[in-house]
Amino acid sequence: MAEKNVRYIAKPGSRINGEVRVPGDKSISHRSIMLGSLADGETRIKGFLTGADSVATLNAFREMGVEISDPNGEEIIIKGVGVDGLKAARSPLDLGNSGTSMRLLSGLLAGQEFDSVLIGDSSLSKRPMKRVTLPLKEMGSVIETTENGTAPLKISGNNNLKPISYDMPLASAQVKSCLLLAGIYAEGETTVIEPAPTRDHTERMLAGFSYKIDGKSGIKKDGSKVTICGGGRLQGCDIDVPADISSAAFFMVAATIARDSELLLQHVGINPTRTGVIDILKLMGADITLENRKEIGGEEIADIRVRSASLKGIDIPEELVPLAIDEFPVIFIAAAAAGGTTRLSGAEELRVKESDRIEVMVNGLQAVGIDAQGTPDGAVIVGGVIKGGRVHSHEDHRISMSFSIASLIAEGEIIIEDCANVETSFPGFVKTAQQLGVCLEEQAGEASK
Ligand code: S3P
Repeated sequence: MAEKNVRYIAKPGSRINGEVRVPGDKSISHRSIMLGSLADGETRIKGFLTGADSVATLNAFREMGVEISDPNGEEIIIKGVGVDGLKAARSPLDLGNSGTSMRLLSGLLAGQEFDSVLIGDSSLSKRPMKRVTLPLKEMGSVIETTENGTAPLKISGNNNLKPISYDMPLASAQVKSCLLLAGIYAEGETTVIEPAPTRDHTERMLAGFSYKIDGKSGIKKDGSKVTICGGGRLQGCDIDVPADISSAAFFMVAATIARDSELLLQHVGINPTRTGVIDILKLMGADITLENRKEIGGEEIADIRVRSASLKGIDIPEELVPLAIDEFPVIFIAAAAAGGTTRLSGAEELRVKESDRIEVMVNGLQAVGIDAQGTPDGAVIVGGVIKGGRVHSHEDHRISMSFSIASLIAEGEIIIEDCANVETSFPGFVKTAQQLGVCLEEQAGEASK
């Protein structure tokens, strides 16, 4: 049977103008469900991302016996079951396209008394899981993957995890968070050492849920080390999820490259472990200012004003890579719009995201007339004229959205195949893009392959 394809037709031209609050932060939404479920008492979440990825996490906890209200309501109410209150799901937990759900849940489930099986869609089933299963095995967990180290993950129940000190071989917030969640269930101190700073929402949220042992905070940070002390409890709380900077990034680039544009992105999370995209775009010459800065629930938030600017190619500083890891598809579009050459290195992790984002972006850029070459750990992109053409997103949400933005300065139309997964992180993207000035239409048809 033919699969369903969603195709985007993006027509050239237009300016970007207006004010918008993009959907809630995906990373914070996942964690709010996880910690809210494990807390004692009630948690209320405002601004939750109703995309398929965070809803997959929500459904997984419902299947483990947690009462969670309708995610489409004004706010989500979770009746926390406590750290020891989850129940075995009756069938494998299907996490769809969501790597964050699978990697964080593997840590959390490693410490339960019951067995669990985690499955995902074809993209998630190809993504590397040994990065979490190897350290979890060091903690005494029994976890099976396929021979290739991929899902399904079969996790045996274990109420006797050992704490470890783990020097992470790669800068990954998912691995760090997986081990911190497992660390709740280990007796003693579990430490994770990061080779470079990565998003720290788990640490902040554990503090926000007052993670404590004997009245003392059970989580501490010391430079590149994060330590959790097992055996603590969490207190339900109120969470206000900011707009996702990773979704806002598409429109930061849009308003920068389109002529005569000005855009205000409201209430965006600007946690310093996430703002690499702003730093990179500013180094390229973008006109971006932060207004109305405030802190809500331990996370910094601001309105981001973006005006048109001409960009220049740069060598992207490697230390910014983990701080902008999800934004490279759209940064590649900024590079295509810039004068001169942009070089990215130290970004081999892009090859194991929802697609191989180096290969898929380079192929797409070449298909629309840009001189772009992939390297093992990055790309070299020469700014030029975007002519238009047909690109394949390989079912990767961020590739689909990036090429929609490229159309703003294209000479001809860009047809983007396999866009259904935009729903995983940005429900309503087409409508928002249209409202702000992108000439974007959606067509349903048969799959392109
Ligand atoms: C995420 C961490 C990042 C990011 C992903 C979300 C998280 O992955 O790419 O979209 O919420 O912890 P890595 O930790 O694998 O870099």
